[in-house]
Amino acid sequence: MRTSTVDLVLKNSKIFTYQGIISGGLAVKEGKIHKFLKEPELLRSDKTIDAKGHLLLPGIIDPHVHLRDLQLSYKEDFYTGTCAAATGGITTVLDMPNTIPRTSSLKALREKKREAEKKIVVNVAFYAGFPKDINEVKQIAEQGIAGFKIYPHDPMEEINFQDEKQICAYFRAAAENNLPVLVHPDNLETIKTLQSELEKQKRPDIEVFLGSHPATSEAKAITRYSDLGVKTGCRLHICHVSSSESVVAIKGALEKGARLTCEVTPHHLLLTSEEIRRQGALAKVLPPLRSRDDNVALWAAVLDGVINVIASDHAPHSLSEKEKPFPEAPSGFPGLETLLPLMLTKVARGDLRLEKLVDLTSRSPAKIFKLENKGMLLEGYDADMVLVDLKEKWRISPEKFHSKSKFSPFKNWNVVGKVRMTFIKGVCVMSDEEILVPRGFGKVINVNQ
Ligand code: DOR
Ligand code: ZN
Repeated sequence: MRTSTVDLVLKNSKIFTYQGIISGGLAVKEGKIHKFLKEPELLRSDKTIDAKGHLLLPGIIDPHVHLRDLQLSYKEDFYTGTCAAATGGITTVLDMPNTIPRTSSLKALREKKREAEKKIVVNVAFYAGFPKDINEVKQIAEQGIAGFKIYPHDPMEEINFQDEKQICAYFRAAAENNLPVLVHPDNLETIKTLQSELEKQKRPDIEVFLGSHPATSEAKAITRYSDLGVKTGCRLHICHVSSSESVVAIKGALEKGARLTCEVTPHHLLLTSEEIRRQGALAKVLPPLRSRDDNVALWAAVLDGVINVIASDHAPHSLSEKEKPFPEAPSGFPGLETLLPLMLTKVARGDLRLEKLVDLTSRSPAKIFKLENKGMLLEGYDADMVLVDLKEKWRISPEKFHSKSKFSPFKNWNVVGKVRMTFIKGVCVMSDEEILVPRGFGKVINVNQ
């Protein structure tokens, strides 16, 4: 009888490492990468998978995802959202707190975790919103969250964003617990003022939307919150940077010594506001899509290292909500199943180096959010991996998404690069768009700060 020494041998692969691509295979033992192997046949294992010469990358870590569930499960639930992640090659998802109920109390966080444990198929960590009672910050932090998120444009927030003393108190509390604050850079008062001015001028609905969320307010908010970050010693992560003015604001903040990281989404890199004018509410998103010049500035910031992460901002809604008249339709669309193929297409065209992409989508988010033993293919690291066919050409068909949101502004885009298999701790959770593990296979990650 053969005795098994490792749990999985993956053979005939090209393995991405920062020292270069290794042709061969690897062995997984107890969920970890055990060894890279030139001749994998020599190791005994119960299970062998032939990678058919495809490229093995570290699993994607997406730090900006709205999995919804609970009272918003009609938009997405923990199962469908994490199936979408697995299909997109995403092995770890960081979930946002703007749900119903909001994840801004110990009770709400516990409820979310309990529900997630029953349904998820990939790794999930949670963000929280700041609680009404500031004394609860510590208790929430101790639950292993990845950070606190603020939405200064959202009237439902527990914080008064006009009150800098209050903001500073919360920032200090986050800093004391070694947690970053994630910022949606906007400002409710500015939105309201601009909106009513544009409505008075009888501007079309789409122009009112675009005009009330200008790049200047985003950049101002970045400067305002990063100044408060410097004052309080709080680390910030700026979400979905969308404009050239914001890139300038970020550079300025870094020069002033802010402890600041930031992310960009594929849609802000690739689309312009014309897409909203063409597709209407289906392409409505916050921050809005902007201009070609903004796309160019964002790519430059990605390439020169000012932007640290590419995140999806997967924001599912029901089709009937998106079909409402433009002003009432919610912002956002799904992104988990399009992020990697869209970016691999940039690699195929020679616009982005593979090494840079892998850094932006795996190593860098793991480092920023302190996800231990993740984000790289290294011996001893978690065997969270994605196998991609770099050559396959296909067309984005949102009707095939695992997400409940079966629409996308990227519908019918031709892309190059297909996710073949996704592995979590050495178990193949998805192969050729099929989910192979039961609900609850994934684990909630508690982050050690
Ligand atoms: O378009 C967006 N949708 N932007 C956000 O910041 C929130 C998100 C959502 O939750 O739907
Ligand atoms: Zn978001």
